[in-house]
Amino acid sequence: MTQHLILRRPDDWHLHLRDGAMLKGVLPETARHFARAIIMPNLVPPVVTTAQAAAYRDRILQALPDGMAFEPLMTLYLTEGTDPADVAAGAASGLIKAVKLYPAGATTNSQSGVRNLDAVMPVLEKMAEIGLPLCTHGEVTTPEVDIFDREAVFIDTVLDPLRRRLPELRVVMEHITTREGADYAAEGGPNLGATITTHHLIINRNHILAGGIKPHYYCLPVAKREQHRLALRAAATSGKACYFLGTDSAPHVDALKEHACGCAGCFTATNTLPLLAHVFEEEDALNRLEAFASLNGPAFYRLPANDATIRLVRQPAAQAFPEKIFTEAGPVTVFNPGFPVHWSVEA
Ligand code: DOR
Ligand code: ZN
Repeated sequence: MTQHLILRRPDDWHLHLRDGAMLKGVLPETARHFARAIIMPNLVPPVVTTAQAAAYRDRILQALPDGMAFEPLMTLYLTEGTDPADVAAGAASGLIKAVKLYPAGATTNSQSGVRNLDAVMPVLEKMAEIGLPLCTHGEVTTPEVDIFDREAVFIDTVLDPLRRRLPELRVVMEHITTREGADYAAEGGPNLGATITTHHLIINRNHILAGGIKPHYYCLPVAKREQHRLALRAAATSGKACYFLGTDSAPHVDALKEHACGCAGCFTATNTLPLLAHVFEEEDALNRLEAFASLNGPAFYRLPANDATIRLVRQPAAQAFPEKIFTEAGPVTVFNPGFPVHWSVEA
Protein backbone atom coordinates (compact mmCIF):
# COMPACT_ATOMS: atom_id res chain seq x y z
CA MET A 1 0.00 0.00 0.00
CA THR A 2 1.26 3.48 -0.85
CA GLN A 3 2.56 5.23 2.23
CA HIS A 4 3.37 8.54 0.69
CA LEU A 5 2.74 10.55 -2.41
CA ILE A 6 4.68 13.49 -3.85
CA LEU A 7 2.69 15.94 -5.95
CA ARG A 8 3.44 19.17 -7.70
CA ARG A 9 2.11 21.83 -5.37
CA PRO A 10 -1.65 22.04 -6.04
CA ASP A 11 -3.79 25.04 -6.94
CA ASP A 12 -7.42 25.72 -6.10
CA TRP A 13 -9.33 26.83 -9.19
CA HIS A 14 -12.38 28.10 -7.24
CA LEU A 15 -12.03 29.67 -3.81
CA HIS A 16 -13.91 32.15 -1.61
CA LEU A 17 -11.60 34.16 0.64
CA ARG A 18 -14.04 36.97 1.60
CA ASP A 19 -12.54 40.12 3.08
CA GLY A 20 -11.47 41.74 6.36
CA ALA A 21 -11.40 39.55 9.47
CA MET A 22 -12.68 36.47 7.62
CA LEU A 23 -10.03 36.80 4.92
CA LYS A 24 -7.35 37.02 7.59
CA GLY A 25 -8.69 33.90 9.31
CA VAL A 26 -9.16 31.65 6.28
CA LEU A 27 -6.27 32.63 3.99
CA PRO A 28 -3.58 30.65 5.87
CA GLU A 29 -5.74 27.52 5.62
CA THR A 30 -5.41 27.65 1.82
CA ALA A 31 -1.90 29.11 1.56
CA ARG A 32 -0.51 26.33 3.77
CA HIS A 33 -1.03 23.79 0.96
CA PHE A 34 -1.91 25.62 -2.26
CA ALA A 35 0.33 27.79 -4.42
CA ARG A 36 -2.42 29.71 -6.23
CA ALA A 37 -6.18 30.03 -6.29
CA ILE A 38 -8.83 31.55 -8.51
CA ILE A 39 -10.45 34.03 -6.14
CA MET A 40 -14.21 34.42 -6.35
CA PRO A 41 -15.43 38.01 -6.66
CA ASN A 42 -18.77 37.74 -4.80
CA LEU A 43 -17.90 40.20 -2.06
CA VAL A 44 -20.35 42.81 -0.81
CA PRO A 45 -20.17 44.93 -2.94
CA PRO A 46 -18.86 42.61 -5.67
CA VAL A 47 -15.50 42.92 -7.42
CA VAL A 48 -16.69 44.36 -10.71
CA THR A 49 -13.82 46.42 -12.12
CA THR A 50 -10.14 45.80 -12.69
CA ALA A 51 -9.35 48.56 -10.19
CA GLN A 52 -11.45 46.82 -7.53
CA ALA A 53 -9.74 43.50 -8.31
CA ALA A 54 -6.31 45.11 -7.95
CA ALA A 55 -7.29 46.56 -4.56
CA TYR A 56 -8.72 43.20 -3.43
CA ARG A 57 -5.52 41.44 -4.50
CA ASP A 58 -3.52 43.89 -2.37
CA ARG A 59 -5.74 43.20 0.64
CA ILE A 60 -5.25 39.44 0.17
CA LEU A 61 -1.46 39.81 0.01
CA GLN A 62 -1.51 42.05 3.08
CA ALA A 63 -3.48 39.41 4.98
CA LEU A 64 -0.92 36.70 4.17
CA PRO A 65 1.14 35.75 7.22
CA ASP A 66 4.87 36.46 6.98
CA GLY A 67 6.78 33.62 5.39
CA MET A 68 3.82 32.17 3.49
CA ALA A 69 3.78 32.29 -0.30
CA PHE A 70 0.51 32.41 -2.21
CA GLU A 71 -0.60 33.89 -5.51
CA PRO A 72 -4.21 35.05 -5.78
CA LEU A 73 -5.54 34.77 -9.35
CA MET A 74 -8.14 37.49 -9.65
CA THR A 75 -11.54 37.37 -11.29
CA LEU A 76 -14.21 39.92 -12.15
CA TYR A 77 -17.88 39.60 -11.28
CA LEU A 78 -19.87 39.93 -14.50
CA THR A 79 -22.74 42.42 -14.41
CA GLU A 80 -24.92 43.84 -17.11
CA GLY A 81 -22.87 47.03 -16.76
CA THR A 82 -19.43 45.41 -17.20
CA ASP A 83 -17.25 47.32 -19.65
CA PRO A 84 -15.55 45.05 -22.23
CA ALA A 85 -12.63 47.48 -22.45
CA ASP A 86 -12.00 47.24 -18.69
CA VAL A 87 -12.06 43.44 -18.88
CA ALA A 88 -9.64 43.45 -21.81
CA ALA A 89 -7.30 45.88 -20.05
CA GLY A 90 -7.38 43.81 -16.85
CA ALA A 91 -6.58 40.64 -18.79
CA ALA A 92 -3.82 42.33 -20.79
CA SER A 93 -2.18 43.57 -17.59
CA GLY A 94 -2.05 39.96 -16.34
CA LEU A 95 -4.16 40.72 -13.27
CA ILE A 96 -7.49 39.29 -14.41
CA LYS A 97 -7.50 35.55 -15.04
CA ALA A 98 -11.25 34.95 -15.53
CA VAL A 99 -14.69 36.52 -15.35
CA LYS A 100 -17.41 34.95 -13.22
CA LEU A 101 -21.00 34.59 -14.38
CA TYR A 102 -23.56 34.40 -11.59
CA PRO A 103 -27.13 34.16 -12.83
CA ALA A 104 -28.84 36.82 -10.68
CA GLY A 105 -30.24 35.20 -7.53
CA ALA A 106 -28.47 31.84 -7.98
CA THR A 107 -26.37 31.96 -4.82
CA THR A 108 -24.61 34.02 -2.12
CA ASN A 109 -24.25 37.67 -3.17
CA SER A 110 -25.43 37.06 -6.72
CA GLN A 111 -28.02 39.86 -6.78
CA SER A 112 -25.81 41.95 -9.07
CA GLY A 113 -25.41 39.05 -11.49
CA VAL A 114 -26.78 38.56 -14.96
CA ARG A 115 -30.50 38.47 -15.77
CA ASN A 116 -30.24 38.71 -19.53
CA LEU A 117 -27.28 37.13 -21.32
CA ASP A 118 -27.86 39.33 -24.38
CA ALA A 119 -26.85 42.30 -22.23
CA VAL A 120 -23.37 40.85 -21.65
CA MET A 121 -22.68 39.52 -25.15
CA PRO A 122 -20.23 42.36 -25.96
CA VAL A 123 -18.15 41.33 -22.92
CA LEU A 124 -18.33 37.64 -23.81
CA GLU A 125 -17.36 38.37 -27.42
CA LYS A 126 -14.33 40.30 -26.23
CA MET A 127 -13.40 37.43 -23.87
CA ALA A 128 -13.71 34.92 -26.72
CA GLU A 129 -11.43 37.11 -28.83
CA ILE A 130 -8.71 37.37 -26.17
CA GLY A 131 -9.09 33.84 -24.75
CA LEU A 132 -10.13 34.92 -21.23
CA PRO A 133 -12.10 32.14 -19.48
CA LEU A 134 -15.67 32.58 -18.27
CA CYS A 135 -16.33 30.77 -14.98
CA THR A 136 -20.00 29.85 -14.74
CA HIS A 137 -22.21 29.22 -11.74
CA GLY A 138 -24.28 26.76 -13.74
CA GLU A 139 -27.76 26.86 -12.26
CA VAL A 140 -30.92 28.43 -13.61
CA THR A 141 -32.82 30.56 -11.12
CA THR A 142 -36.32 30.00 -12.47
CA PRO A 143 -38.46 29.33 -9.39
CA GLU A 144 -40.45 26.67 -11.26
CA VAL A 145 -37.35 24.53 -11.82
CA ASP A 146 -36.67 22.10 -8.99
CA ILE A 147 -33.43 22.94 -7.18
CA PHE A 148 -32.07 19.45 -7.89
CA ASP A 149 -32.61 19.99 -11.65
CA ARG A 150 -31.19 23.48 -11.96
CA GLU A 151 -27.75 22.45 -13.18
CA ALA A 152 -29.00 20.12 -15.91
CA VAL A 153 -31.52 22.73 -17.08
CA PHE A 154 -28.78 25.39 -17.14
CA ILE A 155 -26.65 23.22 -19.40
CA ASP A 156 -29.49 22.69 -21.86
CA THR A 157 -31.03 26.14 -21.86
CA VAL A 158 -28.13 28.52 -21.16
CA LEU A 159 -24.68 26.97 -21.49
CA ASP A 160 -25.09 24.90 -24.62
CA PRO A 161 -26.84 27.69 -26.58
CA LEU A 162 -24.15 30.14 -25.45
CA ARG A 163 -21.33 27.85 -26.54
CA ARG A 164 -22.98 27.29 -29.92
CA ARG A 165 -23.30 31.02 -30.34
CA LEU A 166 -19.69 31.70 -29.27
CA PRO A 167 -17.66 28.52 -29.81
CA GLU A 168 -14.38 30.34 -29.20
CA LEU A 169 -15.40 31.34 -25.68
CA ARG A 170 -13.39 29.40 -23.09
CA VAL A 171 -15.71 28.26 -20.30
CA VAL A 172 -15.24 26.62 -16.92
CA MET A 173 -18.29 24.84 -15.55
CA GLU A 174 -17.75 25.58 -11.87
CA HIS A 175 -18.46 23.01 -9.16
CA ILE A 176 -20.32 20.47 -11.29
CA THR A 177 -22.64 18.28 -9.24
CA THR A 178 -24.31 15.97 -11.76
CA ARG A 179 -23.64 13.19 -14.23
CA GLU A 180 -25.03 15.52 -16.88
CA GLY A 181 -22.43 18.14 -15.97
CA ALA A 182 -19.56 15.64 -16.03
CA ASP A 183 -20.71 14.21 -19.38
CA TYR A 184 -21.17 17.62 -20.95
CA ALA A 185 -17.67 18.71 -19.86
CA ALA A 186 -16.11 15.56 -21.26
CA GLU A 187 -17.61 16.18 -24.68
CA GLY A 188 -16.88 19.90 -24.84
CA GLY A 189 -13.46 20.00 -26.46
CA PRO A 190 -10.48 22.11 -25.44
CA ASN A 191 -12.46 25.29 -24.72
CA LEU A 192 -14.44 23.67 -21.92
CA GLY A 193 -13.28 22.70 -18.44
CA ALA A 194 -15.05 21.78 -15.21
CA THR A 195 -14.09 22.17 -11.60
CA ILE A 196 -15.15 19.62 -9.00
CA THR A 197 -15.22 20.30 -5.26
CA THR A 198 -13.91 18.03 -2.55
CA HIS A 199 -17.23 17.90 -0.74
CA HIS A 200 -19.25 16.84 -3.81
CA LEU A 201 -16.97 13.77 -4.04
CA ILE A 202 -17.94 12.87 -0.46
CA ILE A 203 -21.56 13.79 0.23
CA ASN A 204 -24.86 13.20 -1.48
CA ARG A 205 -28.16 14.82 -0.58
CA ASN A 206 -28.89 12.30 2.16
CA HIS A 207 -25.99 13.73 4.13
CA ILE A 208 -27.82 17.06 4.25
CA LEU A 209 -31.33 15.86 4.92
CA ALA A 210 -31.49 12.37 6.44
CA GLY A 211 -31.56 12.15 10.23
CA GLY A 212 -31.93 15.91 10.77
CA ILE A 213 -30.84 18.92 8.72
CA LYS A 214 -27.06 19.32 8.61
CA PRO A 215 -26.45 22.95 7.70
CA HIS A 216 -22.70 22.51 7.29
CA TYR A 217 -23.34 20.18 4.34
CA TYR A 218 -25.57 22.72 2.59
CA CYS A 219 -23.94 24.42 -0.36
CA LEU A 220 -24.85 25.51 -3.86
CA PRO A 221 -25.21 23.81 -6.20
CA VAL A 222 -26.74 21.49 -3.62
CA ALA A 223 -25.39 17.92 -3.46
CA LYS A 224 -27.47 15.54 -5.58
CA ARG A 225 -28.33 11.82 -5.56
CA GLU A 226 -25.70 9.14 -4.99
CA GLN A 227 -25.49 8.29 -8.71
CA HIS A 228 -24.26 11.82 -9.35
CA ARG A 229 -21.64 11.66 -6.60
CA LEU A 230 -20.36 8.45 -8.18
CA ALA A 231 -20.24 10.11 -11.61
CA LEU A 232 -18.22 12.99 -10.13
CA ARG A 233 -15.80 10.54 -8.52
CA ALA A 234 -15.34 8.76 -11.85
CA ALA A 235 -14.74 12.11 -13.56
CA ALA A 236 -12.29 13.53 -10.99
CA THR A 237 -10.25 10.32 -10.87
CA SER A 238 -10.28 9.78 -14.65
CA GLY A 239 -7.23 11.95 -15.21
CA LYS A 240 -9.06 13.63 -18.11
CA ALA A 241 -7.73 17.12 -18.80
CA CYS A 242 -11.13 18.82 -18.60
CA TYR A 243 -11.58 18.09 -14.86
CA PHE A 244 -9.69 19.95 -12.15
CA LEU A 245 -9.96 20.84 -8.49
CA GLY A 246 -11.96 23.89 -7.45
CA THR A 247 -12.78 23.46 -3.79
CA ASP A 248 -15.44 26.19 -3.61
CA SER A 249 -14.34 26.40 0.01
CA ALA A 250 -16.86 29.01 1.18
CA PRO A 251 -16.56 30.15 4.78
CA HIS A 252 -19.54 31.47 6.71
CA VAL A 253 -19.52 31.97 10.46
CA ASP A 254 -21.39 29.28 12.36
CA ALA A 255 -24.11 31.71 13.43
CA LEU A 256 -25.08 32.19 9.78
CA LYS A 257 -24.88 28.50 8.88
CA GLU A 258 -26.85 27.32 11.92
CA HIS A 259 -29.68 29.72 11.18
CA ALA A 260 -33.34 29.67 10.12
CA CYS A 261 -32.16 30.70 6.65
CA GLY A 262 -28.69 29.20 6.62
CA CYS A 263 -26.03 30.33 4.17
CA ALA A 264 -24.74 28.00 1.43
CA GLY A 265 -21.13 26.87 1.60
CA CYS A 266 -18.82 24.14 2.86
CA PHE A 267 -15.47 25.17 4.33
CA THR A 268 -12.92 22.63 3.10
CA ALA A 269 -9.69 24.62 2.79
CA THR A 270 -8.26 23.10 5.97
CA ASN A 271 -8.56 19.42 5.08
CA THR A 272 -9.12 19.24 1.32
CA LEU A 273 -5.86 17.50 0.40
CA PRO A 274 -6.08 14.67 2.95
CA LEU A 275 -9.72 14.16 1.92
CA LEU A 276 -8.80 14.03 -1.76
CA ALA A 277 -6.05 11.51 -1.07
CA HIS A 278 -8.61 9.40 0.79
CA VAL A 279 -11.09 9.58 -2.10
CA PHE A 280 -8.49 8.87 -4.79
CA GLU A 281 -7.15 5.94 -2.76
CA GLU A 282 -10.67 4.52 -2.47
CA GLU A 283 -11.02 4.81 -6.24
CA ASP A 284 -7.61 3.19 -6.75
CA ALA A 285 -6.48 6.35 -8.54
CA LEU A 286 -3.79 7.90 -6.35
CA ASN A 287 -1.61 8.10 -9.46
CA ARG A 288 -4.14 10.52 -10.98
CA LEU A 289 -4.47 12.90 -8.02
CA GLU A 290 -1.67 15.10 -9.36
CA ALA A 291 -3.47 15.56 -12.69
CA PHE A 292 -6.65 16.63 -10.89
CA ALA A 293 -5.12 18.85 -8.21
CA SER A 294 -1.94 20.18 -9.80
CA LEU A 295 -1.74 19.77 -13.60
CA ASN A 296 -5.08 20.01 -15.41
CA GLY A 297 -6.04 23.38 -13.97
CA PRO A 298 -2.87 25.24 -14.97
CA ALA A 299 -3.06 23.64 -18.41
CA PHE A 300 -6.60 24.94 -18.92
CA TYR A 301 -5.66 28.42 -17.65
CA ARG A 302 -2.50 28.36 -19.81
CA LEU A 303 -0.23 28.78 -16.80
CA PRO A 304 2.80 26.68 -15.86
CA ALA A 305 2.35 23.98 -13.25
CA ASN A 306 4.08 24.73 -9.96
CA ASP A 307 7.70 23.62 -9.59
CA ALA A 308 7.50 23.06 -5.83
CA THR A 309 6.05 19.83 -4.47
CA ILE A 310 4.13 18.67 -1.43
CA ARG A 311 4.25 15.30 0.24
CA LEU A 312 1.15 13.45 1.40
CA VAL A 313 1.67 10.68 3.92
CA ARG A 314 -0.64 7.85 4.83
CA GLN A 315 -0.46 7.53 8.60
CA PRO A 316 -1.24 4.35 10.52
CA ALA A 317 -3.62 6.29 12.79
CA ALA A 318 -6.58 8.38 11.74
CA GLN A 319 -5.57 12.04 11.54
CA ALA A 320 -7.33 14.66 13.62
CA PHE A 321 -8.27 17.95 12.03
CA PRO A 322 -9.83 20.93 13.77
CA GLU A 323 -13.59 20.92 14.12
CA LYS A 324 -13.57 24.70 13.69
CA ILE A 325 -11.21 27.50 12.92
CA PHE A 326 -11.57 30.61 15.02
CA THR A 327 -11.49 33.81 12.98
CA GLU A 328 -11.95 37.34 14.26
CA ALA A 329 -15.27 37.30 12.38
CA GLY A 330 -16.38 34.25 14.42
CA PRO A 331 -15.96 30.46 14.36
CA VAL A 332 -16.15 28.59 11.04
CA THR A 333 -16.86 24.86 11.02
CA VAL A 334 -14.46 22.75 8.99
CA PHE A 335 -16.07 20.22 6.64
CA ASN A 336 -16.43 16.89 8.43
CA PRO A 337 -16.33 13.95 6.02
CA GLY A 338 -17.86 11.62 8.59
CA PHE A 339 -15.18 8.94 8.24
CA PRO A 340 -11.63 8.55 9.55
CA VAL A 341 -8.91 9.98 7.29
CA HIS A 342 -5.39 8.60 7.45
CA TRP A 343 -3.69 11.05 5.10
CA SER A 344 -1.85 14.17 6.14
CA VAL A 345 0.23 16.80 4.37
CA GLU A 346 3.82 16.84 5.52
CA ALA A 347 4.88 20.23 6.81
O1 DOR B 1 -22.16 27.05 -1.52
C1 DOR B 1 -21.83 28.08 -2.08
N1 DOR B 1 -21.29 29.11 -1.39
N2 DOR B 1 -22.04 28.19 -3.39
C2 DOR B 1 -21.83 29.35 -4.03
O2 DOR B 1 -22.07 29.40 -5.21
C3 DOR B 1 -21.40 30.56 -3.30
C4 DOR B 1 -20.70 30.21 -2.07
C5 DOR B 1 -20.53 31.40 -1.13
O3 DOR B 1 -20.07 32.44 -1.59
O4 DOR B 1 -20.82 31.25 0.04
ZN1 ZN C 1 -18.21 29.36 -5.22
